[in-house]
Amino acid sequence: HGELRGVVALDGPSGTGKSSAARRLAATLRARYLDTGAMYRAITLAVLRAGVEPTDTERVVEVARAAKLTQTSDPDASRTLLDGQDVGAEIRGPEVTLAVSPVSAVAEVRELLVEHQRAIIADALATAGGIVVEGRDIGTVVAPRAELKVYLTADAQARAQRRTKQDTASGRAATVDAVLADVQRRDAYDSSRRVSPLRPAEDAVELDTTPLDLPGVVAALLDLVEQRGLRV
Ligand code: DC
Repeated sequence: HGELRGVVALDGPSGTGKSSAARRLAATLRARYLDTGAMYRAITLAVLRAGVEPTDTERVVEVARAAKLTQTSDPDASRTLLDGQDVGAEIRGPEVTLAVSPVSAVAEVRELLVEHQRAIIADALATAGGIVVEGRDIGTVVAPRAELKVYLTADAQARAQRRTKQDTASGRAATVDAVLADVQRRDAYDSSRRVSPLRPAEDAVELDTTPLDLPGVVAALLDLVEQRGLRV
């Protein structure tokens, strides 16, 4: 029952159970947890609040530079603050979800956030010893020397079903068909963008979560952590 030493990078498209699994894995290993998607979402919220078109690259960069973003890394209380205000609920709403792809495709936005993410990781390694980092480009760009990289997949139908359940549980109306269309739209966008497209790192372990429930995904990840000798 030891603690994590080093960085675990979890990448993959949405709806693979990545966030819940990453948070639980970090809590089990008494490590820190970083949700990088929340950071792209928070910048997107800042863009929308400023009345800027998500496709207006120049103004998006200005908003991103001016935004005061704080992302905490406690797996039991991961918080996203924008200009001092907790925006955890708002960044998961439909407006942000619709606009986040073009914002996260902007190279300067990614540079800013990657730098911020690396600082959070360095701090976690210095103070807690280990961190689970979740996103799209963690193994390829943010932490290319991570001790363990896992790329989570699941078939689109299974991912849409998971996302629909999550949305309904948080009080947002959703149908599997609408969510499936949204999942496929974002996958296509995230995989085809020029800057840091979604793809597995060469040295990532692929884990298909289609037949697994959450405890099953966490157990598979814990096995990999232990096989690598990262639990001490
Ligand atoms: O994981 P999520 O659904 O909260 O991520 C929101 C969006 O942010 C997603 O459409 C892709 C983008 N993203 C990214 O480009 N790079 C990351 N490291 C994390 C998220």
